Amino acid sequence: MKTLVIVTHPNINQSRINKSWMEAVQSQSNVTVHQLYESYPDFKIDVAKEQALLTSHDRIILQFPFYWYSTPSLLKEWFDAVLSYGWAYGEGGDKMRDKQLGVAVSTFGPAESYQHTGYNRFTMEELLKPIQATNNLIGTTFMTPFILNGVMHVSDEQLAQNTAAYVKYVTLQSVTV
Ligand SMILES: Cc1cc2nc3c(=O)[nH]c(=O)nc-3n(C[C@H](O)[C@H](O)[C@H](O)COP(=O)(O)O)c2cc1C
Repeated sequence: MKTLVIVTHPNINQSRINKSWMEAVQSQSNVTVHQLYESYPDFKIDVAKEQALLTSHDRIILQFPFYWYSTPSLLKEWFDAVLSYGWAYGEGGDKMRDKQLGVAVSTFGPAESYQHTGYNRFTMEELLKPIQATNNLIGTTFMTPFILNGVMHVSDEQLAQNTAAYVKYVTLQSVTV
């Protein structure tokens, strides 16, 4: 199985979490790491190149820091441009079908804030529904999201453990929701 990890972080050099995750999976066999902000700083996405990358992999992981309860804007642009009618959905749009789709997200807000009783009022599962709905439309199999909340309070040791768990998430057989 070939896995494509699409990393969307506008400032990966100053990142702690996503950088740790990315560097750990970069060295794995059968894993391709693709950084959107590095490839497209001008937001002009090469749709044919992205579609070819997707076609040549079986599992796609979208890795990003949570920005305004959603993805960084370049990943939204990527959805709009790459998952096109007749390719990812609609008539003849079956190119993503039967691939696996995973999501890896880091958040500042602690886990308890992403509860109905917490200050964010919604759970991560609820907030990630647009991606799950996209998954449903394009016919991929949705993997249980890999989430790290409360990044400010994650120690170096906890991050090392979490990063090891992320490598397993990216490389091992998935558990789906
Ligand atoms: C523009 C912007 C928007 C953000 N929005 C959220 C948010 O909605 N919820 C949240 O928990 N954290 C939010 N954050 C915090 C980031 O998710 C957090 O800094 C990031 O996950 C840390 O990962 P990193 O070390 O890889 O940069 C936001 C940060 C920025 C810069």
